[in-house]
Amino acid sequence: MTQDRNIKFANDSAIQEAAALIRAGSLAAFPTETVYGLGADARNEHAVAAIFAAKGRPQFNPLIVHVHDLAAARRLAEFDALSLQLAEQFWPGPLTLVLPRRADCGLSLLVSAGLDTVALRVPANPVAQALLLAADCPIAAPSANISGKISPTCAAHVAAGMGDKVAMILDGGVCAVGLESTVVQVRGGRAFLLRPGSVTRDQIAVIAGTVETNADAPDAPQSPGQLASHYAPNLPLRLNAATAQRGEAGLAFGDTIPAGAVKICNLSWRGDLTEAAANLFAMLRELDCDSFSGIAVASIPAHGLGEAINDRLVRAAHR
Ligand code: TXA
Ligand code: MG
Repeated sequence: MTQDRNIKFANDSAIQEAAALIRAGSLAAFPTETVYGLGADARNEHAVAAIFAAKGRPQFNPLIVHVHDLAAARRLAEFDALSLQLAEQFWPGPLTLVLPRRADCGLSLLVSAGLDTVALRVPANPVAQALLLAADCPIAAPSANISGKISPTCAAHVAAGMGDKVAMILDGGVCAVGLESTVVQVRGGRAFLLRPGSVTRDQIAVIAGTVETNADAPDAPQSPGQLASHYAPNLPLRLNAATAQRGEAGLAFGDTIPAGAVKICNLSWRGDLTEAAANLFAMLRELDCDSFSGIAVASIPAHGLGEAINDRLVRAAHR
């Protein structure tokens, strides 16, 4: 099968090659102890957008950023005392911590879906470790499956689902755990379980005391996909706007440009949806300032990544 051609046994040279591809902005799938990840340079907005395009995700859910060790994680996010204890106990391993992004983290905005937090994990799998060391950059990686399909636990699963969408698949055998990582966020000294996974609630409770779920507390962090958790601009957004009203800035796409806008940001002059996804959060932030009365958003095509872009815009327009 042609799609098996880009599977490479994960020896040193294949790992170097995958690292170089990732640094160059391409996608490479790699094994972790939980499931195979679809990896991209987490600092590269366009590469992160390509992850969403490859997965066919109808929404921009925030992605997990993989790093080599705790020191690398601390360069990207602010650790409170309990998160630090959890990291020291469970890293490397299948625990993901949601933490406030550091201002100087240099991470893509899309990787956090516009939130001011980032999900970090240090994988234990030796191939993943070697790849992170070789790439020398944080690697954003959701599970390497088409959206809505089952997460892949071997290279052949990745190839079957998305072999034609990745530059390379690093074959590190079957994933030892086979279940996604546990996602935890600490807020006000309390640990909230955002996604159950292979580190159990009881294991976390040994360190954290009680572990709460979203349903347990009204002030708990919302799980992604829910309206409240997403970055919302302060200014009102008007969607499918052919013309701007008085004082409005305009968010354009290709040659669809809201007429009369005070200032225009164009998501993609050439009408490319992956480029538009890469620019979305930065441009919304740029236009979301007091000098304008609102943001008139041009109509965006509904196909491909356009679905996720429109989903995000509808949420941002809802107030
Ligand atoms: O085992 C795993 O975690 C695998 C391997 C490849 O590491 N990765 C994975 O990534 O499952 P993904 O993108 O499929 O799942 C990311 C999870 C989602 O539940 C997402 O909502 C949550 O992490 N998440 C990511 N960033 C978040 C944030 N800033 N706040 C809250 N939840 C976040
Ligand atoms: Mg997944």
